[in-house]
Amino acid sequence: MSAQAVPSQPAGAAAPPASSLVAPGPRVSRKIGSIAPSATLAVDAKAKALKAQGRPVIGFGAGEPDFPTPAAVVEAAVAACRDPANHRYTPTSGLPDLREAIAVKTKRDSGLDVAASAVLVTNGGKQAVANTFAALLDPGDEVLVPAPYWTTYPEAIALADGVTVELPTDESSGFRVSVEQLEAAVTDRTKVLLFVSPSNPTGAVYPPELVAEIGRWAGGRGLWVVTDEIYEHLVYGDARHASMPVVAPELEDRWVVLNGVAKTYAMTGWRVGWMIGPADVIGAATNLQSHTTSNVANVSQRAALAAVSGDLSAAAEMRTAFDRRRRTIHRMLNEIDGVSCAEPEGAFYAFPSFADVLGRDVKGRISQSTTELCEVVLDLAEVAMVPGEAFGAPGYCRLSYALGDDDLAEGVGRIADLLGRRS
Ligand SMILES: Cc1ncc(COP(=O)(O)O)c(C=O)c1O
Repeated sequence: MSAQAVPSQPAGAAAPPASSLVAPGPRVSRKIGSIAPSATLAVDAKAKALKAQGRPVIGFGAGEPDFPTPAAVVEAAVAACRDPANHRYTPTSGLPDLREAIAVKTKRDSGLDVAASAVLVTNGGKQAVANTFAALLDPGDEVLVPAPYWTTYPEAIALADGVTVELPTDESSGFRVSVEQLEAAVTDRTKVLLFVSPSNPTGAVYPPELVAEIGRWAGGRGLWVVTDEIYEHLVYGDARHASMPVVAPELEDRWVVLNGVAKTYAMTGWRVGWMIGPADVIGAATNLQSHTTSNVANVSQRAALAAVSGDLSAAAEMRTAFDRRRRTIHRMLNEIDGVSCAEPEGAFYAFPSFADVLGRDVKGRISQSTTELCEVVLDLAEVAMVPGEAFGAPGYCRLSYALGDDDLAEGVGRIADLLGRRS
C-alpha cells in the first residue's frame, strides 16, 4: 500500500492495528471458497490411502479404466520425450498434427465434418468443460443440466457465473430427460443445454432418435448444446452412440462437442481432451487458455496423436471386459436386499438405488443418506462407493466397474454380506 493510501492520524494518536488496514471480507473469494471438492476424487483418494495403510479396500470410486495405456501410445510418448522440439512451448490450441487427427477421428467415429481449426486441445476433458462454459456464459445465464449429472458440471457453470437448472430423472425414464421436461424448464435466461450420452454416473445412453428429437427442440429454441461425448466408444448391447450435431442439423453452429482420450484409450493420467465448436467460441476459449495453461504438455499431445490416429482395437478389448463386468455387477447388485439397479448401457458405471437401505440398522449403524451409507460401507465392508449426493441424486450410489473381475465380485459380495441378500 502506498503512503498516501494510509488514513491520516491525528498527531500523537497510536498507529492503527495492522488488521484495520486489511480490506474487509473473506480471505478466500466467495466464488472459489464455495467450490465443493470433487467427491469422486475424494472417495478415490480415501480408498487409496486406506489401501496404502495395508487395508484390503476395494474401490468402486475411480472413473478410470484399469487397463494400461496401449503400448504403441506409450512408445510414441517415449520417442517424443527424446525430441527437443517437444521441450518447448507450442501453440495454445494444440499441435497442428493432433488437431488434424482429431478432426479426422471425429469424422470416422461420429460422422461429424469439422476442420482442424475448429478443435482446441485441452488439459483433459475437464478443461474443455471449464473453457466451454467460461466462453459461453454471462452472469445469470441458465444451463439445463439433466440429473444425475457428473459432479464437475455445476461447479464449472458456477465458476462461469452461470446458473445450473437441474432436470431430475430416474429409472422410470432410463435416466433420460424428455423434450417435455426440457420445455417446461426453459426461461428467457436459458442459454445452453448440457447433453451427455453415455452418461456418467448413470450409464444411460440416449437412442439416436431421442438425441435427434432433443437436438431439434434445442435448435428450434435457439439454444446452444454442449455435448460431452467422452464415453462414445463404451456402449453395450443394442445401445448406439449418436452425436447430436450430426443427427440434429437444426442446431446450425450453436454446439460444442467435448471429448478426450482418457476413457477410450485408458489415458486418464495423460490429460488430453478437446473441444470442437464454431470459430468465435473456439477463439475465445483459446484466448482464455493462453492465459491459464498455455499448451498441453507436448509429450502427452504426441501420445494422444498416436492414440486417435491408431485403430480402436484396444478400446474394443476394454469394451468386452467392461461389458462382462457390467452384467456381473448389475446381477449382483440386484441380489442385495434393498438395492435396485437399472441396467447400465454405456460408460463403466452402475448407479443403483439404496433408498430402501436408508433408515435400516446395519450392524448398529443407521444411515439417513447415501453419504452416510458410503461411510458405513467403507468402515464395515472396506468397499468404496461414491454417494449419489455428489451427482444431484440422493438415495443412489455410483459404482465404477472399471476394476478387475475378481475384485468386482469380492467387493459387491462384501456389500451383500453387510446388507443381506434378497430372500
Ligand atoms: C462425463 C465426463 N466428461 C469429462 C470427463 C473428463 O475427463 P478427463 O478430464 O480425465 O479427460 C469425465 C471424467 O470423469 C467424465 O466422466
